[in-house]
Amino acid sequence: MLDAAKLKADFPVLQQTVHNNVPLVYLDSAASSQKPQAVINALSKIDSTVYANVHRGAHWLSDESTALYEESRDAVAEFINAADSREIVFTSGTTGAINLVARSWGDANIEEGDEILLTLLEHHSNIVPWQQLAERKGAIIKWCDITDDGYLNLDEFENLLSERTKIVACTMTSNVLGTYTPARQITELAHAAGAIVLLDAAQSAPHQTLDVTELDADFVAFSAHKMLGPSGIGILFGKEALLEAMPPFLGGGSMIDVVSEAGFSTAALPAKFEAGTPAISPILALPAAIAYLKQVGLENIRQHEHALVTYTHEQLNALGKINILGPPPTAKAGVVSFTVDNLHPQDLTHALDNQGVAIRAGHHCAMPLHNRLSINASGRASFYLYNTLSDVDKFIQAIDKAIQLFS
Ligand code: ALA
Repeated sequence: MLDAAKLKADFPVLQQTVHNNVPLVYLDSAASSQKPQAVINALSKIDSTVYANVHRGAHWLSDESTALYEESRDAVAEFINAADSREIVFTSGTTGAINLVARSWGDANIEEGDEILLTLLEHHSNIVPWQQLAERKGAIIKWCDITDDGYLNLDEFENLLSERTKIVACTMTSNVLGTYTPARQITELAHAAGAIVLLDAAQSAPHQTLDVTELDADFVAFSAHKMLGPSGIGILFGKEALLEAMPPFLGGGSMIDVVSEAGFSTAALPAKFEAGTPAISPILALPAAIAYLKQVGLENIRQHEHALVTYTHEQLNALGKINILGPPPTAKAGVVSFTVDNLHPQDLTHALDNQGVAIRAGHHCAMPLHNRLSINASGRASFYLYNTLSDVDKFIQAIDKAIQLFS
């Protein structure tokens, strides 16, 4: 098992005190995770030794930088068990990755009357690009509901698939409810109906083993900044045949083979989708984050978060006045969203912040889900490998104090 207190010592941000010298308890890793010293060191070393633009140079620095850039791609491919590194495209984030698919694959393949199947568990990054695509093309968005206890309604999902469904875009883990979706079943059902599948793994890749080959997903999107890496990078995995057939999305340097006054030809994969100068240092530092995760072990991380969530549910229920959203701990990742009777999540979050406890309040970029739950906002504590049971205790004490303060 994982020793979270020992791991926490690797994260300089988490050693701080905030406000009136209260120790920081960071429970907002679903928004962005923190960086271990190994990643901070990697960033610093890259900028001090090998930094130069990639795929452009005829000099030593650029060659070094380019080699490490491609090694980073190889490390990602291995991390998610992709068949080939050419199936890995670096983007600006999960949002950038999903927009790439919606613009490139979507514009080339979606026609008027075609259906795009989403679920009510999605966050806005996996909603709005599809709504924009539907608007451009006259396509129809279908929504798969959740059950009242926060599971994806798989029967409804199956019923909504039709010969008009061209793509299913579904999260693997809800960023609000923590619900795991049955991703393998989703891809099987969608493929049987003739649709392709994009899986949003932003809340999944950092917390459990991701095997894109086993999942048989057509596209998978996730972000480095939620998995101990630097911000500014996303990863799009796409099956090679699909990526080959897709037109480029952004135009510019790197994505071309030849440019003339008459036009241009595109570069081979994956450069075809990487126009312009990428986030060089963050991408070069990403293998340090992957190495850290692999050393701790993704299965250990999943089990540790499960223990934290189970304990949090018990403690919140013992407090009373708390309504935990979503399924029981057995069906969810390290995310606990909740409302407190007669206490607005924003007020609660401020009261917690004053006690050093950082959680998120609001709709968490998932307004349709909050509408479905008939609430405007919720509080959310989200965990990672550096959170301890003592962090949960401090969180619970802070909520208890806030409830007393506002009552
Ligand atoms: N989707 C991110 C979150 O859940 C930003 O906080």
